[in-house]
Amino acid sequence: MSRNRNCLAAALLLCAGCLNLLALDNGLAKTPPMGWNSWNKFACNVSEDLIKGAADALVSSGMRDAGYQYLVIDDCWQIDRDANGNIVADAKRFPSGIKALADYVHSKGLKFGIYSDAGTATCQHRPGGRGYEFQDARQYAAWGVDYLKYDWCDHGTQNSEASYSLMSAALKKSGRPIVFSLCEWGSTKPWLWARDIGNLWRATGDIVDKWDGKEKWGGLGVVQILDQVNGLESYAGPGHWNDPDMLEVGNGGMTTTEYRSHFSLWCLLAAPLMAGNDIRNMTPEIHDILTNKELIAVDQDALGIQGHRVKQSGGLEVWSKQLSDGGRAVALLNRTGADAKIAVAWTDLGYPDSLPASVRDLWAKHDLGTQKGSYAVSVPSHGVVVLRIKP
Ligand code: GLA
Repeated sequence: MSRNRNCLAAALLLCAGCLNLLALDNGLAKTPPMGWNSWNKFACNVSEDLIKGAADALVSSGMRDAGYQYLVIDDCWQIDRDANGNIVADAKRFPSGIKALADYVHSKGLKFGIYSDAGTATCQHRPGGRGYEFQDARQYAAWGVDYLKYDWCDHGTQNSEASYSLMSAALKKSGRPIVFSLCEWGSTKPWLWARDIGNLWRATGDIVDKWDGKEKWGGLGVVQILDQVNGLESYAGPGHWNDPDMLEVGNGGMTTTEYRSHFSLWCLLAAPLMAGNDIRNMTPEIHDILTNKELIAVDQDALGIQGHRVKQSGGLEVWSKQLSDGGRAVALLNRTGADAKIAVAWTDLGYPDSLPASVRDLWAKHDLGTQKGSYAVSVPSHGVVVLRIKP
């Protein structure tokens, strides 16, 4: 009897150990991560100079102080593995090495991120992480990496959940708190299995710098992404976010109005906000979009609720995000080719018709007084009006 009890206790302990290894309890990304990533603008054209320049610009532009914290080098920093299997950075582009670069980024009050891939090669045919998970995680920790984006190219017949679990365990074993960003493009519905594995997971294919578009290779415009992530809101929350991909704001393919809408909707979605433009050199309009404090506060709201579309009619849409003060952030989005009036009714937001509520326009930075039952306003084509409505 007592032997049986001991066996049972040992089995339970073992089981708790396994669960502990699997559960993601890294305490990170309690609000959606914010930062800058090299891919959308620079692709493989990354270097030590670029990353240092981006670090300087995050500080001088005020973006760091607005919340953009993680500076992430995407694909193409790595070139090989050495005889011991250690991942090797491209010495031509990163002559001082990754550790020195991470130290520089940290010296600016920022956090440092890097990219790899769960398969045998990255999407740009650099060495992938498969079979080297624990060795790489140890190396990243030794370099001072704070964030790992982990892609899904060249995965062959690998199982996504098993592959990402392995790297998650390796990061945990490294002893350094590292945000784990899964990038398998939503292909195996990571929102169903990744909550205890990663802090964020891409929910869609790659974004392209377009308002509306679907590329043959899978790239998606802003409105296509919106349609794909709407409905996934129940899977997001503090520590585990749906990722509709990084921002294209400022990269030149959309109008300022469209960029404002792109940014606003990402905030309504509680999306990770990874700027992807050349922040060393941006116009005042783009700077003002990326640093709108009231919009960022919507994204970073402590409740961590992902907003969703509550009404649509012929390309005119109302999106709502519940906030921790009991209010709502509301985006009135006009997807049509002409300016149009859009109305939000309190009942769309789960409020009674008769409830008086204060209304503020977050782009105009203007209070609109107390309203009852509904509010209507003209919205430009492809534009958005974002309201904060508080009973
Ligand atoms: C994939 C990812 C992108 C980027 C590239 C790099 O396409 O989805 O975000 O990281 O790979 O090669």
